[in-house]
Amino acid sequence: MNSGYRLDGKVALVTGGARGLGAETARALARSGARVMVTDILEDAGRATAAEIDGTYMRHDVTDEADWERAVTTTVGRHGGLDVVVNNAGIETAALLVDCELADFRRVMAVNADGCFLGTKWAMRAMRPGGMAGAGGAVINLSSVAGLVGVVGLGAYCAAKGAGRLLTKSAALESARLGYGVRVNSIHPAVIKTAMGEDVVRSIAALGLAADVASAEALMQQMHPMGYGRPEDVASAVCYLASDAARWVNGTELVLDGGLTAG
Ligand SMILES: NC(=O)c1ccc[n+]([C@@H]2O[C@H](COP(=O)([O-])OP(=O)(O)OC[C@H]3O[C@@H](n4cnc5c(N)ncnc54)[C@H](O)[C@@H]3O)[C@@H](O)[C@H]2O)c1
Repeated sequence: MNSGYRLDGKVALVTGGARGLGAETARALARSGARVMVTDILEDAGRATAAEIDGTYMRHDVTDEADWERAVTTTVGRHGGLDVVVNNAGIETAALLVDCELADFRRVMAVNADGCFLGTKWAMRAMRPGGMAGAGGAVINLSSVAGLVGVVGLGAYCAAKGAGRLLTKSAALESARLGYGVRVNSIHPAVIKTAMGEDVVRSIAALGLAADVASAEALMQQMHPMGYGRPEDVASAVCYLASDAARWVNGTELVLDGGLTAG
């Protein structure tokens, strides 16, 4: 699917781009004309996605600040700039709060919240005037409907995705006030059947919130007024926010849920 937005001449970095929403986003950015750096800790899948779109792959753990510096420097060195950073890498853990281990909470915060913070920080540093890319740009943070409303069994994930939402707004304001020319926005999808989406549905049954996986599936289907989303729904939203069509869009939360949180 073509997003309809043009990104010719732009350079994009997509974290967690090996599979799922990140891979689909990398494909859509490339189809829209961007040169894409795919980063992930999954090396074979990351290389495969990059090869498909004539992009570049680099191993990059989003929780590691030194990795961020390398990822940004390598992207600018190889592609001559950096215009779009998609902070997509994420993990979830399903547990009732009374049973949630601190180590699991911290792991989820590290990838989703620390990763989003580091990605936003290094993107803004590189894109602001005088930075190593220096031409402004767009940062797009993958939050979730779980960053807008609470979800039973996903407390750690909600905390991490909610952190990403307000970090996005602060970064957007700071960037605008300081004249960085970097727009920062977040995207909030409901369930999309990637590996993570499948896990979320299975976890409802595993936590005893539904009798079995089939009942969990029925419950989730019923919660989504327009059914589940598709990876392309996220990819085209990213292309829009990355493009000049969104030139006045900054600090917004783009909700992709078919109306789930509208009521
Ligand atoms: N699928 C959904 O239903 C859904 C809904 C709302 C939001 N999201 C968010 O969208 C994003 C993508 O989710 P997805 O469904 O494609 O998940 P996924 O599990 O299919 O893919 C996530 C990718 O992130 C990578 N990753 C994990 N930890 C990493 C780390 N430390 N450093 C670098 N890469 C790392 C994984 O290797 C994987 O390739 C996530 O931030 C997720 O929270 C997903």
